[in-house]
Amino acid sequence: MINMKRILVTGATGQIGSELTPALRKRYGDENVIASGHTIEPDRELLEGGPFCFLDVRDSCSLEKIVKEYRINTIYHLAALLSAAAEKDSQLAWDVNINGLKTILEAARAFHCSVFFPSSIGAFGPSTPPDNTPQDTIQRPATMYGITKLSGELLCDYYYHRFGVDTRGLRFPGLISYKTMPHGGTTDYAVEIFYAAIRGNRYECFLREGTRLDMMYMPDAIRAAINLMEADPKRLAHRNAFNVTAMSFAPEEIYTEIKKNIPDFIMTYRVDPVRQAIADSWPHHMDDSSARREWGWRHEYNLAAMTREMIERLSERFEKDKGDRYVSKTVR
Ligand code: SER
Repeated sequence: MINMKRILVTGATGQIGSELTPALRKRYGDENVIASGHTIEPDRELLEGGPFCFLDVRDSCSLEKIVKEYRINTIYHLAALLSAAAEKDSQLAWDVNINGLKTILEAARAFHCSVFFPSSIGAFGPSTPPDNTPQDTIQRPATMYGITKLSGELLCDYYYHRFGVDTRGLRFPGLISYKTMPHGGTTDYAVEIFYAAIRGNRYECFLREGTRLDMMYMPDAIRAAINLMEADPKRLAHRNAFNVTAMSFAPEEIYTEIKKNIPDFIMTYRVDPVRQAIADSWPHHMDDSSARREWGWRHEYNLAAMTREMIERLSERFEKDKGDRYVSKTVR
């Protein structure tokens, strides 16, 4: 088959990767999607769903070996540290987020691969207009995460213009999913809150009331990544770093929405100054009209629809986990 996609996903065990990988396998065939990560024990769905390779994205020899062996022509490069984790270890964040990307781009140049790179609302900073943040605007991020994401956007542009590598990317907002917890992000509260609500616990929110940020439900994020990579390149004026969003809310608004479904749920605030400062430097709401115009981006989930589905799916999981625990106890 001509143009058959042979895909490598880096960071496949992470927040986006653990859902993008199965979606890509469903679309392009299990054997055509190679998952990779630096976890020794990835979850069963990932391991049994198709090939899995151990990979540190900074290791160019191992990367090239995988690209050659599996005849890779498309790389979804997701391996990265999130914002709060990057503030804790800025050296490691630079190394993984920048040197990792550079290694991927070099392999893509040598082996003629397309590259998907997720940027973020973190690529903006305190001097960026926070409302209706334009596609092309001031970007002076104040965090190590933001600096690596902005540098990544520029590197991807550079590899396209200078070497003709087919790089494409999105600026994701906070992503919400019932499958995998994010680790070390500033928008993590919008996922943690559901786990607390389903388990009947109180939730202590680490961001202040009124902290409005862009967000998106994971199925929309997965569709956005796949659609952008399949888009007609002639229509792409921007290729990299497209603003994309689906909803924008502050902690009290998601709390109210959850309470409509779980009236007893209680949320209180205990502000984490590090993550609050990060959130305060990010936009409230991005203008994503370029993505909508250039490749037909459309979100499907708003706050109410996402909340309903998160509660439904997490409740099912919670019940199943309880059942599994009961079975394993009685078997023993
Ligand atoms: N969700 C990410 C974070 O909070 C933002 O891209 O770090």
